[in-house]
Amino acid sequence: MNVAAALPAPLGLLAELTHRCPLGCPYCSNPLALDSRSDELDAASWARVFREAASLGVLQVHLSGGEPAARRDLKDIVAAARDAGLYSNLITSGVGLTPQALNGLADAGLDHVQISIQDSEQSSADNIAGYKGAFARKNALAAEVVKLGLPLTVNVVVHRANIGRVEAMVDMALALGAGRVEIAHVQYYGWALKNRAALMPTREQVEQAVGQVEALRTRHHGRIVIDAVVPDYYARFPKPCVGGWGRRSLNVTPAGKVLPCHAAEVIPGLEFWNVRQHSLNEIWRSSPAFMAFRGTDWMQEPCKSCAMKEKDFGGCRCQAFLIAGDARAADPVCHLSPHHALVAELAAVREDVPYDYRHS
Ligand code: FES
Repeated sequence: MNVAAALPAPLGLLAELTHRCPLGCPYCSNPLALDSRSDELDAASWARVFREAASLGVLQVHLSGGEPAARRDLKDIVAAARDAGLYSNLITSGVGLTPQALNGLADAGLDHVQISIQDSEQSSADNIAGYKGAFARKNALAAEVVKLGLPLTVNVVVHRANIGRVEAMVDMALALGAGRVEIAHVQYYGWALKNRAALMPTREQVEQAVGQVEALRTRHHGRIVIDAVVPDYYARFPKPCVGGWGRRSLNVTPAGKVLPCHAAEVIPGLEFWNVRQHSLNEIWRSSPAFMAFRGTDWMQEPCKSCAMKEKDFGGCRCQAFLIAGDARAADPVCHLSPHHALVAELAAVREDVPYDYRHS
């Protein structure tokens, strides 16, 4: 495949504005080594990144963290996204964002809000978040979002402690006035990998939850969109992670490093370029990390001769490294991977131990 000729435009930019966060979720997707506050890009740099992203073809920016509301200049950053012509989605824990601040963000041009809620039951939700009172604050913020007329997505991360309440979670999202709910099974990278045995559901639980999501989609068709991120430890085929490496999206860390996916730093030897030294265009087109697994030339068997290679792109590079020890290997969740049996062995390790909370 001629990668340069076939280079697609990215559609989405994940802007990790800060790694600071009030919550301690045991499945936190931030990297193990956090960027410090003093290293964070300032609002003017984000404004430049947004302009460069728009000229690359990016349509949406996801303002994420950590907790983006930890930034005092969040309103300026939202305004910069609007000025660049990007659709802005604020991904928030719902803790630390006051109604007044939310109002200011709406005035600055914010287009959409996504609130993560840990469970449909208050005590369990607060326990998972490692923050007493989080559930009530998230619900209150969701009400403010709807009052302002902003579209709301509720995101719930699913694991052994809450997997039995998928139906209640969808009901909760409906009651809050969300137009979309994302039921996302934990993906085991970073902090989630540390807590894998405490979070891992059983195969029966997962099958039941997947069936429930299908039934709920039919029942609530036209009222709410239900998206599901499937639990790949029990899958036979891998997910096309991030829509294929270097094909659809970019991830900018708080300190300005540009990654092809949020977990890419787990892969040793990759060279990431930074927006402080390079334009986003240069980084997208030719930075070593983006080139490493773009296209299909890097593949080895069984991916190389697989009919699915242009559809699933060999699955997740980070998971291939974390489980098989080789980022060029087929994602071990694929039943054709020589390491597939290892995935079943890892999924069978379940321990009722306290969470190792993430505190930044
Ligand atoms: Fe990095 Fe899947 S999380 S490629």
